[in-house]
Amino acid sequence: MIVQAKNNRQIFLRRLKIDDIDRLFQYLQNLSDETRKRFGPHHFDRQSIIDFYINVDEHLGYVALDIDTSELIAYSIIRIGYLEHDRFRLQSYGLSLDNKTDCTFAPSVADAWQSCGVGDHLFRFICTELKGYGIQRVILWGGVQCDNEKAVNFYYKNGFRTLGHFEYHGQNMDMILENL
Ligand SMILES: CC(C)(COP(=O)(O)OP(=O)(O)OC[C@H]1O[C@@H](n2cnc3c(N)ncnc32)[C@H](O)[C@@H]1OP(=O)(O)O)[C@@H](O)C(=O)NCCC(=O)NCCS
Repeated sequence: MIVQAKNNRQIFLRRLKIDDIDRLFQYLQNLSDETRKRFGPHHFDRQSIIDFYINVDEHLGYVALDIDTSELIAYSIIRIGYLEHDRFRLQSYGLSLDNKTDCTFAPSVADAWQSCGVGDHLFRFICTELKGYGIQRVILWGGVQCDNEKAVNFYYKNGFRTLGHFEYHGQNMDMILENL
């Protein structure tokens, strides 16, 4: 799917493919320390990326590419179901978790492309796909750091609500999008 970013550049949205690994590795290497420390699902070395996608149905990668340069400019991860690691904390908010209709989400956008509407576009694209898979709720991957203003605003704008707070290297929030 092709959309236009706020900087008037055309971008292409699609699922991550196995032959994107080099491009994805380059993308992750180029992220600033500030962005890297916000994005936690996997390590940034090549082998960790390969291992992360080894079971094809467990993790779904989504990417945005700059049409002019073919450069990867955004990368988001969906895991079908919830993170076992977060189960007790999520249940403590009274959630009944469901591995068939819940999913877990982690977004990232290249530093130079942040605040250009790319995160919004890619998330809307992902939501359309998720509905087709019967997913009804989106839960944040390990929550969001409360001082991550861009991300917190991004989630509220896209319909997420706060479930609760927890401490892990500072204050964090669990958030959920219901009625996808
Ligand atoms: C969070 C992130 C995915 C948002 O994607 P993005 O492409 O930058 O966001 P968009 O341009 O699509 O903006 C969507 C909304 O996010 C919020 N937002 C974006 N940039 C912002 C900024 N500089 N300051 C405050 N809020 C901002 C706004 O609510 C914005 O809506 P608006 O444009 O109508 O005001 C992206 O900034 C990012 O990768 N950040 C670093 C990694 C990260 O924090 N990941 C999340 C970990 S929990």
